[in-house]
Amino acid sequence: MNLKAKTVLVTGANGGVGSALVKALLEKGAAKIYAAARTVAAVQELVQFNPERIVAVPLDITSAASVAAAAEQCVDVNLLINNAGINRCVSLLGRAGLEAAREEMEVNFFGTLAMCRAFAPLLEAKGSGTIVNVCSIIGLVNLPVNGTYCASKAAGHSLLQGMRAELAPRGIRVVGVYPGPVDTKMTAGQEMPKATPVQVASAILTGLERDAEDIFPDPMSQGVHEQLAKNAKQVEKQFAAMIPA
Ligand SMILES: NC(=O)c1ccc[n+]([C@@H]2O[C@H](COP(=O)([O-])OP(=O)(O)OC[C@H]3O[C@@H](n4cnc5c(N)ncnc54)[C@H](OP(=O)(O)O)[C@@H]3O)[C@@H](O)[C@H]2O)c1
Repeated sequence: MNLKAKTVLVTGANGGVGSALVKALLEKGAAKIYAAARTVAAVQELVQFNPERIVAVPLDITSAASVAAAAEQCVDVNLLINNAGINRCVSLLGRAGLEAAREEMEVNFFGTLAMCRAFAPLLEAKGSGTIVNVCSIIGLVNLPVNGTYCASKAAGHSLLQGMRAELAPRGIRVVGVYPGPVDTKMTAGQEMPKATPVQVASAILTGLERDAEDIFPDPMSQGVHEQLAKNAKQVEKQFAAMIPA
């Protein structure tokens, strides 16, 4: 894929990976980048990097009215990057587990599904287009301390596969991104090796330029992906052992 002529919409553009994606797309020469965030104020600083090519869009992906308004404003999009997500960092049996699970599913699954449903017809009308969904490596194997988040990202992975199958005959590519830990607000205060948002954004765009279908953008996600292919049960057991005493 040549990113130069693309009109791109990035959700969660005020977040760590989202704002890095907007800046990286700018450097790659994308024609127009819609930087979507729950409030326009949250992306004002980002827009200042290039007010001619970056356009702020108010978007809450859990609101049907907001998603419909964004689809109306951004009709010229040919690359949609579903990056917005939340992680309540709780276990399945944790005190807030049920509430967290519902909130995470609302954003990570239903919100992403709503975005795909709203934008697929716009891409199809152009004859081609690409949807990128930012999933997670821990959507492929459950990390119990983030048990509810992992379940929502596993749902996101299945959503991606189904979307890919349904949209391929309509000329729309669907690309999955499976990062390991990234140094953003989402992992603040968690001590572990993390990729930077800049590294992840750069790897995502390189993957798109190479027409990759699934992108593992950092060493951690690449390692886990390889291990999963060799022995998924062993990886499950390794991750299960990471539950605190
Ligand atoms: N950080 C990691 O270790 C990691 C690893 C694997 C995958 N990921 C995935 O990478 C993506 C980006 O996360 P990040 O690390 O950059 O975290 P982040 O800094 O917390 O950014 C998340 C973004 O999503 C937005 N968002 C949340 N709920 C939304 C909603 N209902 N409507 C619209 N936007 C919403 C947030 O907006 P507000 O600021 O308004 O809340 C924020 O801009 C997420 O899908 C995440 O699950 C992250």
